[in-house]
Amino acid sequence: MRHLIAGNWKMNGLNASLAEVNKLKSLLQEKPANADILICPPATLLPSLAQEVAGSPISAGGQDCHTAESGAHTGDVSAEMLKEAGAAFIIVGHSERRADHGETDELVKQKAEAAQRAGLTPIICVGETREERELGNAAAVVSAQLSGSLPEDTNYVVAYEPVWAIGTGLVPSLDDIREIHSLVREKTQEETRLLYGGSVKPANAAEILSIENVNGALVGGASLKAEDFFGIIQAV
Ligand code: PGA
Repeated sequence: MRHLIAGNWKMNGLNASLAEVNKLKSLLQEKPANADILICPPATLLPSLAQEVAGSPISAGGQDCHTAESGAHTGDVSAEMLKEAGAAFIIVGHSERRADHGETDELVKQKAEAAQRAGLTPIICVGETREERELGNAAAVVSAQLSGSLPEDTNYVVAYEPVWAIGTGLVPSLDDIREIHSLVREKTQEETRLLYGGSVKPANAAEILSIENVNGALVGGASLKAEDFFGIIQAV
């Protein structure tokens, strides 16, 4: 299975950040044999980033979408709009959206379906909080999120991102990642790509990416710098 190394820029990036994409393109030279590469910038940068990566091994994606195709939803962006802007994937249900915007599993599922309706592949995020892990509930929490968030159409990617590992420099043990990924695999198809996310860096990428049922990474902070992101791609 080809790995997917996906960068999530979150609410970071102005036009000047496209220089990092340009740098990444020159670092890559040619398409990596066994990895697909994706960058999900803020929606404002999507059209120019998509133009910048056209014809390169890098794809562009969105970070969120509304469930509807269009309508009276001030400030929202639809999957169809992201597609037209150049997206191939859309991240849905990131823990920051679940926490900051109260997104439920049901809403995340509807957003995943909206992405599919537009012909895009959703990257559906799940993951437990620190408290849930400490109580020994990580597997149960992830399991329930999967039951509620996965649409019927299996054209999706799943990202396991423990909330406490995001942006903190903390990473679960390799055994803990292996355990959750094998649980996710049981609930998904054999060909579904399962990403790990949470403080992935060039220094830990190789060991994380070699875990069974880890088919790529969702990278936040380290995707903002071309050299760091390239280091993670090289680890594949
Ligand atoms: P991080 O973020 O790599 O900065 O921990 C990952 C994510 O939130 O997708």
